[in-house]
Formats: sequence, C-alpha cells, structure tokens
Amino acid sequence: MAVSSATVSRMCVTVLFVFSAMWGLALSISRYSIPEEMQEGSVVANLATDLGLDVRALVTRKAKLDIIHSKKYLDINKETGELFILEKIDREYICSSKTTSCFLKMDVIFENPIRIFNIELEIMDINDNAPVFRRETMHLDISESTAPGERFSLTNAVDADVGANSIKTYYLSTSKSFTIDIQTGSDGSKYVDLVLNRNLDREEQALHNLILTAVDGGVPARSGTASIIVRVLDINDNAPLFNHKQLYKVPIPENAPNGATIVIVSATDLDEGLNGEIVYSLPAKEDAKHTEMFSIDPRSGVITSKGTIDYEENAAFEIRVQAKDRGLPPRSTQCKVLVEVIDVNDNAPEIVVTSVMATVKEDSFVGTVIASINALDKDGGKNGHVVCTLVGDVPFKLISTYNNYYSVAVDRQLDRESVSQYNVTISAKDEGTPPLSSTTVIKITVSDVNDNPPRFSEPIINVFVKENIPAGALIVRLTASDHDVNDNAQIAYSMLETSNTLPTMININSLTGEIYSMHSFNYEGVKKIQFQVQATDSGVPPLSSNVTVNVFILDENDNSPVILPPYSDPGSVHSENIPYSAERLQRQDCLFDSFYGIICNTTVSRSG
Ligand SMILES: *[C@@H]1O[C@H](CO)[C@@H](O)[C@H](O)[C@H]1NC(C)=O
Ligand SMILES: *[C@@H]1O[C@H](CO)[C@@H](O)[C@H](O)[C@H]1NC(C)=O
Repeated sequence: MAVSSATVSRMCVTVLFVFSAMWGLALSISRYSIPEEMQEGSVVANLATDLGLDVRALVTRKAKLDIIHSKKYLDINKETGELFILEKIDREYICSSKTTSCFLKMDVIFENPIRIFNIELEIMDINDNAPVFRRETMHLDISESTAPGERFSLTNAVDADVGANSIKTYYLSTSKSFTIDIQTGSDGSKYVDLVLNRNLDREEQALHNLILTAVDGGVPARSGTASIIVRVLDINDNAPLFNHKQLYKVPIPENAPNGATIVIVSATDLDEGLNGEIVYSLPAKEDAKHTEMFSIDPRSGVITSKGTIDYEENAAFEIRVQAKDRGLPPRSTQCKVLVEVIDVNDNAPEIVVTSVMATVKEDSFVGTVIASINALDKDGGKNGHVVCTLVGDVPFKLISTYNNYYSVAVDRQLDRESVSQYNVTISAKDEGTPPLSSTTVIKITVSDVNDNPPRFSEPIINVFVKENIPAGALIVRLTASDHDVNDNAQIAYSMLETSNTLPTMININSLTGEIYSMHSFNYEGVKKIQFQVQATDSGVPPLSSNVTVNVFILDENDNSPVILPPYSDPGSVHSENIPYSAERLQRQDCLFDSFYGIICNTTVSRSG
C-alpha cells in the first residue's frame, strides 16, 4: 500500500525539527539497503560494530531505536548489537508506488552522554503486486461500418510495484479482428489501445469476447486480466433474400374463390432490428393487370387472389414480389411467382351455324351439304375438346371437316310428300369431367320436286246420260289429284282426240275437268261415246296420266217399240253372256248389252 504524499511531507518536517534541536549531536548517518517483505527476525546490520561501540554500552547507555514512523518495524538486540526486522515491511505501504526509492529513517539514541546516530534504511522493491485493472470488464460498441485501423482506448492496468516490477506489457487473446497497440507515457506508464484490423461483420459474429492481460517485468512476472466485450452494431448491409428460390411455380384451379391463398413467399434478412424487418409488396409494373388480380400481406407474405380467376382470360400469371427491409436506406430484393391456372370445365360448347340452306330439294343427292357448323369451347385440353352428333333418326349426317368444323349433309333420299320439314338437332359435348353439352336446332324445309303425276281415282270412268239432254249440259266432272304442291300440282285437263267428230259432240273445261255436251244425243243414233282425258300438271317437266271415259246414252221412250231382229233368226231365243263388269253396272241399276244397249234391271232379267 502506498503512503499519501501529505504523510510523507509531514514526516520530513519532523526530521528537520529533530535535526535542528539536536544540532551538533548527530555525528554520522549510516545507510542500509534491504528488500521489502523480509522475514521477521532477519538481521539487517550489527550496529555495535558499525558504530564502533562496545556491545555492553548499548545496555549501560540505554540505547533506543526511534523510528520516525508510527510502526515499529525494527529493533536492536542489545546483547549482540544487531538491528533486526520486527515486523515485515511493505514498501508500497510506506512509499508511493510512483516513488522509485523508498527510505525508512530512524535514530539510535544513547544517553550519558547523549548521542544520536541517523540511520537510513532503503527498502528495495520486490515484485509482490500483480497488475490490476480497475474495471474487470470493458464494453465497447463498434459499428460494422467501422474502417480497419480505427483505435479504441482501453482502461490500462496498474501495478503497485515500481521499476522493473511495474507493468511491462499487455497481451490480447487471439482474435482475427483485433490487435492492441501499447504506448508508453512520459512517466513510463503503459497505455493500451484496441485496434480494429479488418472489417467487422455482425452477421458473422455479433459479439467478440476478448481477454486483455497486463504483465509486469518482475521475476517471476505477475499478471492481471480484464475482459473486453465488443458488441458489433448492425448496419443495413444485407438485402432480404427469398428463401430457397427466386421463382415460385404455383398451380391453382380457375374459379378459386376470392381471397384464396395462392402461395406464401418468405424472405429473410441477416441484419437485425429495422434493418432486418421485411415488408412484402407487389410492385406495380408495366403489366399492372396481373398485380390487380392478387394482393400480398406485407408482414406474412401470403399472396391471395382478388376476384375470380378465369382460365379463359388468363392461363398464367407472372407476379413480381418485392421484399424490402426498413433500414435507412432500405434494401430490397424481388422474386417471381408464376401462377399456372388449371382449367376447369366451366364452359359448355357453343355451336355456331356458319351457313344453312333453309330449303333442300327433295331430289337432292346423298352427300349434298345443307349446313356448316363450328363447335367452340373456351376451355382448354379435354375440357375444350368437342364432339358433335345429330340427335334422333334424321336423313342427314355430320361430316367432320377440320378441327371443330362440320358439314351437315343429306344421308338418305328425301321425300317431301312423306316429311316436308325437319328440326335437325345438333348436340355438342366436350370431354371434360363431368362433360358439358349444348344443342342447337336447324330447321330444314324440303322443297317440292315434280315427282308425282296427277292421278285419277279410276282408270275407266263410265258415265250415263239420257238422250235428248240439252246442248251444254254437264255430263261429268273429272278430278285428278296430285301429291305435289303448287305448280307441280296445278292440273290441266285435255281431251285426247281419237276422231274428228268428237270435239263436235263434247267439250272439256281444262281447268275444272268439267265435260259438257255440245248437243243432245240420239240413242237411236249413238249409244256410247268413248274417249280419253289427260290430266297434266304444271311442273317442269310436266307429268300426266290418262283416264278412259265411257259415255253411255240412255234411251228415252221417243219411238214406238219395234223388234229388230238384226242378227238372229225370227222366233229363236237370243242369249248372250253378260260380261263380268255387269256386276258394277247392275249396282247402277242398269247394264250394258251390246245388242240391246243399256238395259236397266227393272226391265231386264239377267237370265235373258
Ligand atoms: C319444329 O319445331 C317447331 C318449333 O320450333 C315446331 O313448331 C314444329 O312443329 C317442329 N317441326 C317438326 C317437323 O318437328
Ligand atoms: C295417254 O294417251 C296418249 C295417247 O294415246 C299416249 O301417248 C300417252 O302415253 C298416254 N299416257 C299415259 C300416262 O298412259
């Protein structure tokens, strides 16, 4: 322990006082030199010998050791005359650690006569003190951005010993980043600076624990340590980094509900605090439409859909995602999210009739194209693959021409007179699961062709007229029918002339088929008129058919009966076979006899 300078000066004053009071009595000054901390009882010197006195005089003259200090470190052995250590002397207790020489002064006083001997005992330093740091732990905050070469002064250690036993040097524990620089002050004390010798990286090592050791120059040397804790202060030297990938590929089904989670992106930032706090965003770029469809949670990085996603509108999206830290200035990174929209069969096929012939002639050839259709489906893949079919049994067929283009063609002979109109249902069905389908109806009208001739109901028409009918009387009305329509069924009647006399007897109205007499008939002259009437339609080419008309003239009682035996002998019984057709004539109550002419059954017996 060192003594304060105030105590030292007071001690000096005391010495001067003694000297002045005893002036002339002090005869000599003896000097001795001993190391501090000598064992008690150790002999420093033999005073009797050194002062040239008889040993017995020490007793007789009451020799007394007066140490000018509160403690009695030494004493005199009055039998041997030796000065010996009574109590261990600590140099640092007596003198300041800064003082290089340290003396303990004392007087040996004799009586009879009084004599005073001054003794100066130099206490030599031994290395009994280790260096000590006033602060056992030093904290330093150093920014990552600090340039190498920067110095940080450290609290130095102190050693109570002096000279060679005081601090000689410092050592720093092994460190890649730090060294120390030792400087010596004007008073010889050592100062130590911590020197940064390379760039710090907080992300690599945020805390550096160093041990500073101070060593003195004693033999053996003593040392003291302090720990230096360097905390590296963050700077925003790291940009956020997207984990794992720069590109996210995400498939999502179309029609995903509004707000559906698409993907969660995550980035990390090696920095700390605001420098490492990440904010996600979708920076609007030139393709703002894609950004409008999605939103991102700035904290969690969850990307959700906004509105519904329609595959038919966009089959894929490319979203740019930004991760930005909150440092000053901030740093950012971007990544891409590729959203692949998976088609759902949400669109039914659509049939577009590109052309259609509203009417088809009934004599159209098999293979005649009557309509063209195109089947469309907005979906992709199988969902958009369409197959068309005709529904029901119709005389048409579908011919696939190209992709989803089809022709509707005549498949069988048509007959307007059987079916004049078709509602052709076309069904289009896609191959999605479940499939979607739609139908469309095209109306086909079969147009008439003159393929039916006019027809009479009977091949032969028999008419009975009374003789003497007036000229211009209606004899019969002929009617033919035609299955065709319009002109093809417009019938004109005409008489096929077989003789020149016929037109003078009867006349035909070509429009109505009515036959009139030109004059009255005379049964006795003509019994039967036979001719053919032709019915012709107005088709192109026209078709016709014939009918045979028999006009029988019925007798009126305008002559006295006369039996004329034209071909038989008188008195013989004439008989004639009745033709088969007589049955019919009979039903009309009359029959035709080539000999008698018309015989009605009221007057004629069939057996003859
Ligand atoms: C065709 O459909 C219409 C209604 O659209 C109907 O009036 C008509 O009778 C149908 N024709 C046939 C031949 O089925
Ligand atoms: C109708 O009679 C005329 C004259 O005899 C003949 O040329 C024509 O072929 C006949 N038509 C039919 C359909 O029998």
